[in-house]
Amino acid sequence: MSDLKKLKEEFLSKLNNKLNLSEINQIKSDLFGKNGLVSSQFKKIGTIAESERKKFASNLNIIKDELQNLINLKINEIENAEINEKLQKEKVDITLPERPFLRGKIHPVSQTIDEISSIFSEIGFSVEEGPDVENEYNNFTALNTPDNHPARDMHDTFYLDEKKEKLLRTHTSPVQIRTMLKDKPPFKIIAPGRTYRSDSDQTHSPMFHQVEGLHIDKNINMGHLKGCLNYFIKEFFEVEKIRMRFRPSHFPFTEPSAEVDIGYEVQDGKIIIGEGDQWLEILGCGMVHPNVLKNVKVDPTKFQGYAFGIGIDRLAMLKYGINDLRSFFDCDYRWLNHFGFDPLDVPTNYRGLSR
Ligand code: DAH
Repeated sequence: MSDLKKLKEEFLSKLNNKLNLSEINQIKSDLFGKNGLVSSQFKKIGTIAESERKKFASNLNIIKDELQNLINLKINEIENAEINEKLQKEKVDITLPERPFLRGKIHPVSQTIDEISSIFSEIGFSVEEGPDVENEYNNFTALNTPDNHPARDMHDTFYLDEKKEKLLRTHTSPVQIRTMLKDKPPFKIIAPGRTYRSDSDQTHSPMFHQVEGLHIDKNINMGHLKGCLNYFIKEFFEVEKIRMRFRPSHFPFTEPSAEVDIGYEVQDGKIIIGEGDQWLEILGCGMVHPNVLKNVKVDPTKFQGYAFGIGIDRLAMLKYGINDLRSFFDCDYRWLNHFGFDPLDVPTNYRGLSR
């Protein structure tokens, strides 16, 4: 057997043993290193008789390729085995145990707005919205409250410019104007939202919430107003019977105007709604003033109706036994955790509003 063949056989059998990476690398350098066995055969080529040279060189190249391929294959096998072993050993268990799920709470004011919207949508009111930054016209003038009208002072308005053209709306009533300007009668809407007055104590906050109601159609009278509010109060407080009284009052945008009180009593320091001989004012209302209708291009000889404005925060305080209005806006997480509502429990008239 020629030297080359011997060399090949010897190393093929060596490579077929079970070897580790450094043993294979050793073989690689024994063969192909600077003075390796294959490398030195290449150096020999020049010394070989010309007649033999071509054959020798071609044989040598074949053997070189064969051995090199086998070495690469073995190295590959070992590296793959190492990677697999590492993957097995360092396997990470990604199925971490579940952490308790911390859920936020719905603020009592948001809950109350949802409840109110649900009650009124049941009897055909749709929900409208208006901006917190209003113009003087929508907030006062169009609502039959001209310049120098005493009601303007009573509202403790936050004006936003020197000319007193822009302001933070002092009530949700301007949404009446916006709604009637953009559409044609009939109208049957409520408009909940934020309102602002420069006033702050245990029962007043500079930002508070109201819901406006407006129902304009042919032949709407004060009986409809009474029926609607009576239904609302009973549904809202989730009681069968409620004592209500309409007290004559004055608002520039309604004629006649009334304020509504509901009956309550205090038992063991707790307010009980519905019975008792005490009265609590909760809203203002009335028949929409013809001037307001004229201002929004509705003919008061054909259409008429009622409007009301309810203080949302006060209703929430009464229903949920919260006695300081300011706590609503303290952003105290513990308070919210105690008085807040489950976000997945959307109030509806069928499933119950607050339970
Ligand atoms: N806007 C009034 C206020 O904030 C409340 C009100 C009274 C609204 C009578 C009305 C209404 O729509 O008819 O004091």
